[in-house]
Amino acid sequence: MKILAIETSCDETAAAVIENGTKVLSNIVASSQEMHEQTGGIIPEAAARAQIRSIIPVINKAIEDSNQNIDQIDALAVTYGPGLIGSLLVGVETAKTLAVVWNKPLIPVNHLVAHLYACFIDHKLDPPQFPAIGMVVSGGHTDLVLIKGHGDITLLGATRDDAAGEAFDKTARLLELPYPGGPAISKLAEEYRTGHPELDSDSIPDLDLFPRPMIDSDDYDFSFSGLKTAVLNYLKANANVDKNYIAANIEEAITDTLIAKSTKAIEKYKSKSFLLSGGVAANKRLREKFEKYFKAKGIKFYVPAPQYCTDNAAAIGAAAYYLNKKADIETINANPAASIV
Ligand code: KG4
Ligand code: ZN
Repeated sequence: MKILAIETSCDETAAAVIENGTKVLSNIVASSQEMHEQTGGIIPEAAARAQIRSIIPVINKAIEDSNQNIDQIDALAVTYGPGLIGSLLVGVETAKTLAVVWNKPLIPVNHLVAHLYACFIDHKLDPPQFPAIGMVVSGGHTDLVLIKGHGDITLLGATRDDAAGEAFDKTARLLELPYPGGPAISKLAEEYRTGHPELDSDSIPDLDLFPRPMIDSDDYDFSFSGLKTAVLNYLKANANVDKNYIAANIEEAITDTLIAKSTKAIEKYKSKSFLLSGGVAANKRLREKFEKYFKAKGIKFYVPAPQYCTDNAAAIGAAAYYLNKKADIETINANPAASIV
């Protein structure tokens, strides 16, 4: 089954053709990120206007690159939410129109569920096994879920304030680093650790400058807004700080908390696999810490290739294939506040 998928929830305009949920035939992503770098963050109206400019060329290119013609496409899929309303509307209305014109079924997909299903891409022969624990860590979300089967998802915990990616972005801004902050912080942190090989241990106790809120709390929730305040206070109290050292401490604090809550859930629910996705899943230090843990425990760890971690349409197509919930065109609406379950 070949699906043409469309994703426009935020500042990426994406389209992809994917076969049987695992084989990506084309994957096109146009980002308006450069424009947002100049404003230090996303302005929703500007993002929606960029979606309108890009949507048709991006869909055309995805079809062209896939070497398929429309007759060979079995269904369309589109992100209905969560995301920015203006951006979502562009994708949803375009997909509805094309589904009518081409007489194809349309499968509405939750953006956060799709982040998890990115872990199925390129795993035709060894797909994730259930029960699985999944974590979506992006600029807008930090969600920890239990997945008992396709579409059988329970939310275990989420951030109570800032998302993990947001914590990277906001602390990076305090350090006057470019947007998005995650890769910038990660680069400086790595430089710091490389310069201090003696730190190469599991816990890195020397990098505990900032608190790990809720790390020992009796639930699966997260809280990252205190980190921003802690960094701000530190910068106010200390002149001429070593940015690499601060970045390493930020990264260690965020990744420690993400690891602690996920491994707690994995053990409680005797999870067979772990699915990590969202922009922050690109973080090298986080992957490194997880890999070490899973190797010791014999649990399968799935993390999508970098281009499928961040917002993309191939993941939308993968989720659409496995969940296969075609809907009446009239009932499909953009829902900016949709939750993962
Ligand atoms: O999933 P995503 O592309 O967009 C949504 O938020 O939906 O995630 C973007 C987030 C940003 O906050 C960015 O700073 C973060 O992912 N990010 C990273 C890294 N690459 C991207 N955070 C930490 N380390 C990275 N290498
Ligand atoms: Zn996303």
